[in-house]
Amino acid sequence: MASPAPQVQIIDKLDHTKQYIVTLHDAYPLPPLAKGNIRIRSRIISLTLNNFTYAQLGHVLGWWNVWAAIPSLPAPYDDPSKYGRISAWGYCEVTESENDKIPVGTQLYGYIPIGDYPETLQVVVDDETGHILETTERRAGLMHIYNRYQPSPPGVDPLSADRSSAAWDSVARALGETGYLLNRYAFGWDKTKVVNPSGASLPWSSDDADLTDAVVIFFGASGKTALSLAHQLRRARPTEHQPRKLVAVGSAKSRDFTEGTGLFSDVLLYEDLASGTDASIAAKLGIDANTKVLLANFSGRGTADQELRAALTRVSKSVAILMVGGDPTGNGSGLGNMPRSVLQCSASHLRDAALEMDGAAAFFENSAREWNRFKEDVAAKAMKLQWGKGLEEYSQGWDALCNGSVDPTLGLVYEI
Ligand SMILES: NC(=O)c1ccc[n+]([C@@H]2O[C@H](COP(=O)([O-])OP(=O)(O)OC[C@H]3O[C@@H](n4cnc5c(N)ncnc54)[C@H](OP(=O)(O)O)[C@@H]3O)[C@@H](O)[C@H]2O)c1
Repeated sequence: MASPAPQVQIIDKLDHTKQYIVTLHDAYPLPPLAKGNIRIRSRIISLTLNNFTYAQLGHVLGWWNVWAAIPSLPAPYDDPSKYGRISAWGYCEVTESENDKIPVGTQLYGYIPIGDYPETLQVVVDDETGHILETTERRAGLMHIYNRYQPSPPGVDPLSADRSSAAWDSVARALGETGYLLNRYAFGWDKTKVVNPSGASLPWSSDDADLTDAVVIFFGASGKTALSLAHQLRRARPTEHQPRKLVAVGSAKSRDFTEGTGLFSDVLLYEDLASGTDASIAAKLGIDANTKVLLANFSGRGTADQELRAALTRVSKSVAILMVGGDPTGNGSGLGNMPRSVLQCSASHLRDAALEMDGAAAFFENSAREWNRFKEDVAAKAMKLQWGKGLEEYSQGWDALCNGSVDPTLGLVYEI
């Protein structure tokens, strides 16, 4: 029986809220695979604000170029100056293989296509970890985290073995690792292993990394990346190196959820900190001139973080600003409009440094342990999975996330 025509999500490169599900009627037959290559097909994909970042910054960081042009893509979507494809975290299956080390049926976790068009990967297998590394010239400029695929144990099907666990992996494992990397390395307590949040090429001292007795403010605290850092700071750090307070800042809509996680000392609204005198802001946050403050933005809404930053620097002698993600509408604070003093988080560069210091086997073992703790402590207790099926439902989820109507308790995940 002939396979049904595959579909892909196409995005307007200037406006990620305009997206199209395009059917590839002439996709088959696919060209033959070269020796060593594999073909993959997505099975579970996720949707969070992180996907919007891939579209908004794709032109700078190469995220529009992950997949080769599809010969059967119809006009006008075949114009790469206007349209493109990004990717999602999730699971895919190896459907064809010309690589002796990778059998057909292998299940991979990684950065995968949004659609069911089978894509070709040019790969090598890393001997130390068994991970599969993508080596195409087209992807050489991508940060390394996007070129690594982690196989499931042989015979384990993510859609049947432990479906919820695989779904949470898809929704938030990469985001959870960001929290782990920030806690363990960028703000680590082991003085021999501290790394600038942007990576090892920039200076960073153990004093910079020290969060002992600090106040950490999470702007956009209800998102999965923010929660993973809060969880790490509270549950995976020696007590004597813990911050004094974790303050969540968010919208009224996410307030109950954020409080319910039990991770934060205080939960404030964006508007609570957008105005007021320096003294009133200092009182709300419980800080004074000698308090070390870290203000971390995880795609919080608007520009209130900028006014807050100005107030904080007038109040405290020691303020660090960390940009993990910008306002998802593109109209507020963003990576592109921050002063040089703002620290930019790069999970991929942090991971590169961690692999160098700890070795790949130890790093992935530790990171997986911490991710499993997050799944048990936060995802399973405070959040719910919302499953969808197929690309049409994925595109409905995309629209809902664009118009801000997705409940913060949900992890959106799709069987493709
Ligand atoms: N730099 C790095 O290496 C790195 C690594 C991982 C993630 N990130 C970035 O971190 C940011 C957070 O990503 P995430 O995937 O963790 O986010 P997420 O889980 O999807 O965040 C959801 C929260 O974001 C807030 N939000 C703001 N605007 C929204 C909108 N239009 N629709 C829905 N929610 C909105 C909501 O909180 P409120 O209602 O309270 O505002 C919501 O609860 C992204 O910018 C991502 O790219 C960066």
